[in-house]
Amino acid sequence: MKLGAVVLAAGQGTRMKSELPKVLHPIAGKAMVHYALDAARALGAEQTVLVIGHGADQVRAAISNLQSLIVVEQREQRGTGHAVLQARDILRDEVEAVVVTYGDMPLLQTATLQELTDLHAYTRATITMLTVRSDDSMAFGRILRDANGRVLGIVEESDATPEQLEIRELNCGVYCFDAKWLWDHLPRLKPQGRKKEFYLTDLVAMAAAENCKIEAIVLDDVAEVVGINTRVHLAQAERIMRERINDRLMEAGVTLIDPATTYIEADVEIGMDTVIEPGCHVKGPTRIGAKCRIGPNAMIHDSQIDDDCEIIASVVREATLADHVHVGPFADVRPGSSLARNVYIGNHAEIKNSRLGEGVHVGHFSYIGDSEIGARTNIGAGTITCNFDGKQKHRTIIGEDVFVGSDTLFRAPVTIGARARTGAGSVVTKDIPPDSLAVGMPARVIKKAG
Ligand code: UD1
Ligand code: CA
Repeated sequence: MKLGAVVLAAGQGTRMKSELPKVLHPIAGKAMVHYALDAARALGAEQTVLVIGHGADQVRAAISNLQSLIVVEQREQRGTGHAVLQARDILRDEVEAVVVTYGDMPLLQTATLQELTDLHAYTRATITMLTVRSDDSMAFGRILRDANGRVLGIVEESDATPEQLEIRELNCGVYCFDAKWLWDHLPRLKPQGRKKEFYLTDLVAMAAAENCKIEAIVLDDVAEVVGINTRVHLAQAERIMRERINDRLMEAGVTLIDPATTYIEADVEIGMDTVIEPGCHVKGPTRIGAKCRIGPNAMIHDSQIDDDCEIIASVVREATLADHVHVGPFADVRPGSSLARNVYIGNHAEIKNSRLGEGVHVGHFSYIGDSEIGARTNIGAGTITCNFDGKQKHRTIIGEDVFVGSDTLFRAPVTIGARARTGAGSVVTKDIPPDSLAVGMPARVIKKAG
């Protein structure tokens, strides 16, 4: 079955009270709309059409890099039926079935959508829809059935009679349509209700009147299908998403000591037997390898961390750590840092835009910025690379097996040869050749290092 998807996201989202369009608010680090788009891709939709309206330019900019996605603008929001109609010219000759979902329904699981499309393909229904049984009506439309349980139509809450308001089966707003039937019938919708909108839901009554097959999957749990309308909903969805992510990781062999205080975003990958202690935040497209020990209280984002690393109470952002790297406590590994195997970063060290070779030690309060440090070099306590002259940043190059005495200042640009040593408190303003010892302020080379 060639499948197309239409994701509706033109609505305003006034109740968010935000300059950001509703569907761009992030949940677990990912803009809400991406959950629907990712689900469509996971379903194998050949083409996905995203219908946008309010905040169109912002939404367009945020999703511009996605493949097999076509964005159309619904200039006036004239109802869900009118919104789906915007996709007609794009999908009409391309697909046999069309799934419709909302961009503000991030908790809907791909597995549920898969069930919907599977049932649709199996029964060859005209419309297959998701409904839910709930005592809280959430202002959803009510499902009308006849005495035999046959679906007759959907009535919106605002148009329902007191009797219909008692109905507990609600319309989720998620459907799979036979494409040909959909494109034939959409233009026949008539404006309805106070706002004279074109209701997509009216198609159900049309199909029933034509004796077409209508199938429904009835959910018991509303959590998946609640729309996000307020910041309170946003926080609730965040919590549910966090639980799902944490559960997925634990099932994959990651230990979370306290899932309730572990904040891991949607795009994070973590290897087996890694232990995440309480109070950790792992964000962005971060990959952590196997057998690492993270936390307590670590914040890591947009970083690649290999196996057997340990990061205690520290911040690591946009950095790369090879196997067996130790960081912390209280270290800040900043963007552009690359730490080779067995690097040891101790307390109160700050590393920025620097490459540290295998086995480099920066044990105690130091600033290493715009630097390159050769393998096995030891950086003494209080070492500072003075990389900024007030106008420009300069690099500090330190060779392999160098021993940097405590409290050394390197005034960049400066190059230190392999196996050189500096005395405690040296202020290095000139290059130091390999195998030599430099001391003083400014440091002078006094003899060959022993
Ligand atoms: C809709 C359904 C209702 C269902 C409920 C579930 C209709 C007529 N009603 O109601 O039966 O119980 O969803 O959440 O379909 N949108 C557009 N363009 C528009 C109008 C809406 O893109 O012109 C988008 C919105 O951004 C939103 C989605 O469609 O993502 C649903 O719109 P909304 O106004 O929330 O529909 P409801 O009235 O809640
Ligand atoms: Ca709604």
